Amino acid sequence: MTVEPFVPPPYPHDRLKPIIESARAAHGEVIDLSIGTPCDPPPSAVLDALYSGDAAKSYPPSVGTVAFREAASGWFARRLGAKVPVEQIGACVGTKELVAGVPHWLRLRQPDRDTVLYPAISYPTYAMGAQLAGCRAVSVPLDQRGGLDLEAIDAGDADRALCLWSNSPSNPTGALDDLGAVAKWGRSHGVPVFSDECYIDFTWSDRRGGSNDASGESVLNHGTDGVVALNSLSKRSNLAGLRVGFYAGDAEIVHFLNEVRKHSGLMVPGPAQLAGIVALEDQSHVEMQRERYLKRMRRLAAVLSDRGLEANLPEGGFYLWIDCGERDGWSVTDELARELGVIVSPGDFYGHSVANFVRVAAVQPDDLIDEIERRQRGVSG
Ligand SMILES: Cc1ncc(COP(=O)(O)O)c(C=O)c1O
Repeated sequence: MTVEPFVPPPYPHDRLKPIIESARAAHGEVIDLSIGTPCDPPPSAVLDALYSGDAAKSYPPSVGTVAFREAASGWFARRLGAKVPVEQIGACVGTKELVAGVPHWLRLRQPDRDTVLYPAISYPTYAMGAQLAGCRAVSVPLDQRGGLDLEAIDAGDADRALCLWSNSPSNPTGALDDLGAVAKWGRSHGVPVFSDECYIDFTWSDRRGGSNDASGESVLNHGTDGVVALNSLSKRSNLAGLRVGFYAGDAEIVHFLNEVRKHSGLMVPGPAQLAGIVALEDQSHVEMQRERYLKRMRRLAAVLSDRGLEANLPEGGFYLWIDCGERDGWSVTDELARELGVIVSPGDFYGHSVANFVRVAAVQPDDLIDEIERRQRGVSG
């Protein structure tokens, strides 16, 4: 029997290269609103902490130092009112590696299962992680509010499932899921729930993101049994370059992941863990960042509205998720690049059913948003 080798598909952002070139040719300076990479500085105390200790010379514990995990546990308690013992927390090298690696590791835990359930409109790494582990990636349709339509999950797929992914607030849609219902479904079907909560600190209070006073909800607010929450400092504290995240929840699953990851040599560098502690202990910089994103999203929504693209503010996250109606997301992406020199992400990065959407990340500084407004005034005359 011949087994076909795995051929990695083009990385989503790499598919934008020709569009970026055309924007550069037309405008010189390209304003990239495609990747959700922070542009604002991390708090200076966090950067100072990077150099503050003697953490670079020795191997850090793969699971995370006790101090780092205590800081994460403290953050869960203060910020979300969730009680999570330090032993039920592990450090990860940013959450993307965990999202991509989890199916592989869970398959070692339950070798008779081979399926990963994930939201039909979502961050591409959930499905890619399944493929990288040689598993079936089975998408779960979304309900009217943009949460998982749990009733639509086929019983045969549930029996084979290694895990169910939830992502609330969602990238790209901004929707909030009913995490109590997701945890309950997972427990009653014996399927571990992995809840990616990396945008939790950017939860807005009402369905349209109108005000800036919401706290967000973790799956861990519904107990730790059978569930694992993923959190990241990349977005919360503008530390995407430092690669600090953590996972927390079910005692047995977290312990299993800790052990296999230890054997794999996965470690958050010691200085990065020191910085992570300082970041987790401060919430004021997050408040400042919330103000920035909310303002930028409002300004970008106004520019897009001038172009006939209606952008509602999200329930969470810092992306505008725009229905382009009859138009294809790639053609809208191309037009925004040519006319404004702005790069956005076409909807088909996030699911086949949303090829007529685009995602706009509010991740450029205010002076570049000024420039986008200037270019739009030039176009609309
Ligand atoms: C939904 C979601 N999960 C996980 C990540 C990975 O973030 P990091 O690896 O920086 O923690 C991202 C990054 O954009 C994301 O959007």
